[in-house]
Amino acid sequence: MPPTPGHATPQRAPDAPPLPTTTLRFIFYSLSHFWGWMVLMLFLETGQAVGNILVPYAIKGIMDGVAHGAPAGGASLWASLQGPLLLLAGLNLAEVLFSRASGAVLIIVGPRLRQRISRNLYAYLQHHSARYFGEHYAGALAHRISETAVSLNHTAWAVLCEFWPITVSFGVSIALLLNVHPDLGGFVAGWVSVYVLVSYRLALHCQSYAQDYAATRSQVNGKIVDGVTHILNAKLFARLGFERDYLNRFLETEVKAARRTFWYMDWVRWFQFAAAAVLKVGTVYYALTLWQNQLIGVGDFTMSIGLALLVIGDARNLSRRFLDFFEYVGNVANGVHTIVRPHEIVDAPDAGPLHVTQGRIEFRHLCFGYTPERRVFDDLNVVIEPGQRVGLVGFSGSGKSTFVGLILRHYAPQGGQILIDGTDIAGVNQDSLRRQVSLIPQDPSLFHRSLMDNIRYGRLEAGDEEVYAAAALANADEFIRRMPQGYESLVGERGVKLSGGQRQRIAIARVMLKDAPILILDEATASLDSVTEQTIQENLDRAMGRKTVIAIAHRLSTIAHLDRILVFDQGRIVEDGSHAELLQRRGVYHRLWSMQAGGFLPEKRGEETAC
Ligand SMILES: Nc1ncnc2c1ncn2[C@@H]1O[C@H](COP(=O)(O)OP(=O)(O)OP(=O)(O)O)[C@@H](O)[C@H]1O
Ligand SMILES: [Mg+2]
Repeated sequence: MPPTPGHATPQRAPDAPPLPTTTLRFIFYSLSHFWGWMVLMLFLETGQAVGNILVPYAIKGIMDGVAHGAPAGGASLWASLQGPLLLLAGLNLAEVLFSRASGAVLIIVGPRLRQRISRNLYAYLQHHSARYFGEHYAGALAHRISETAVSLNHTAWAVLCEFWPITVSFGVSIALLLNVHPDLGGFVAGWVSVYVLVSYRLALHCQSYAQDYAATRSQVNGKIVDGVTHILNAKLFARLGFERDYLNRFLETEVKAARRTFWYMDWVRWFQFAAAAVLKVGTVYYALTLWQNQLIGVGDFTMSIGLALLVIGDARNLSRRFLDFFEYVGNVANGVHTIVRPHEIVDAPDAGPLHVTQGRIEFRHLCFGYTPERRVFDDLNVVIEPGQRVGLVGFSGSGKSTFVGLILRHYAPQGGQILIDGTDIAGVNQDSLRRQVSLIPQDPSLFHRSLMDNIRYGRLEAGDEEVYAAAALANADEFIRRMPQGYESLVGERGVKLSGGQRQRIAIARVMLKDAPILILDEATASLDSVTEQTIQENLDRAMGRKTVIAIAHRLSTIAHLDRILVFDQGRIVEDGSHAELLQRRGVYHRLWSMQAGGFLPEKRGEETAC
């Protein structure tokens, strides 16, 4: 995203949550509501780990009891075994209780934490600009939000429920073994240090492979979504086989990336087996030597072997968790990097609401380009008087939609100002601006909600009768009532279950209900048949009342009756006047008008000359 002109520092919309831009701080910020729960979780996990690792200690007691008490018979055996047996039972019970309590905390906190992250990221995302949404796929952004929420959860639980208990269990084991004999404890402590260090380094190295693999998976996903979305195109051109081969090329890359990662992980497993063997053989050797020299008893011997096996299990778990952990953190980093970026268009701190009393629009020395290299407008100056109805005409790509997009502040100009009733729109609250300006876009899209909800979107508090009236004005009431579920019909993604003209009529009804003082129509009736268009045009004219209206049309007959027409050519207004005046001038508009067969403009300038 190019830096926003005039704003050197990263910026955030005032209504957006103050999300940190670095991964670690984002993780802490997201967890900040749950510190109490986290501490409780640490306590429960500690209890569980201690319970688990003390089992060999209880077994040592039993072994010692068996070794010393057996010949004395039943009662004294029970007396010497009572303590360790009760300890063993208590440890098992404690482990179960701690483990289930920590499971309960996970159930209470996990979904809440995910909700909080998703809500915050979504709220932050909402304030990004039109440019941002043009550069990112909607599906990919939605995926990022859910993936970040899930991965942050996993990251937190990996630390609390995996790394922490393993650390406790290593600590307790080493303490017990040091108690048995310093050599034995020292050996296992050394082994654990080397193992953790090597596992960490291996996982860190594996991260690049894992990221590469994740990137290819995500690419394949994107290709499948693209293929499915445009499957009708593929069918139209009989290219189903071509599409399969096309996808297969990306699947092949995924196979290669997957193998690279899995081979690496397999090497990690070799290391684990070798390390485990060293620990097992080493512990048995040390314990045997100590026992042989009568420095330890049978119980200590058994406990040492039991602890070594537990440590091996934990260690193996740890290195697997390292691999997952880096993947989760990578996902969170990705989400933060994609979504928590500076907002391009932000309300000024002192931005007040815009009050439109007259509806005068002025472009003053306006310069704008989507990219710095290519200007669409260079020093554009034009005034649209209050209540004036203005038609914009011009070739495709001449800047008409950009002109109206700038009035709505979808993009920030690089220079100059746009004033509405004398107020620079750069200094007003964006919501208030958009409440005063209605737009029927060139390609209206609808929510996958009922038609009722889609129309009512123009004014949420409107009653059913008002919705019906707006639909009738847009000539939509009749076709809606003919649908099996009437106003409750769902319209499919982006409104695909409606014809282009029907979709356009819903968009018109929605705007009629909104009833803002400035109305912009970007090819608002282009998809309608002439009869329907005529009816709607009359209603629209009536609805326009004293509003300031800007109407873009390729079919000149739809704007010929307006007060004024602006002819655009490559970002400049080359003619300005009423239909009659422009015809008299015998310039571009006259040429366009005279060559309209059926009321359309040619696509390119070349066609105009050819005609
Ligand atoms: N989102 C965008 N990013 C980059 N360039 C864009 C973008 N939208 C439009 N343009 C470019 O800006 C110029 C003006 O486009 P605009 O959409 O304003 O034309 P238009 O007059 O509305 O055309 P049409 O009659 O086909 O709707 C074109 O050269 C176009 O390629
Ligand atoms: Mg356009």
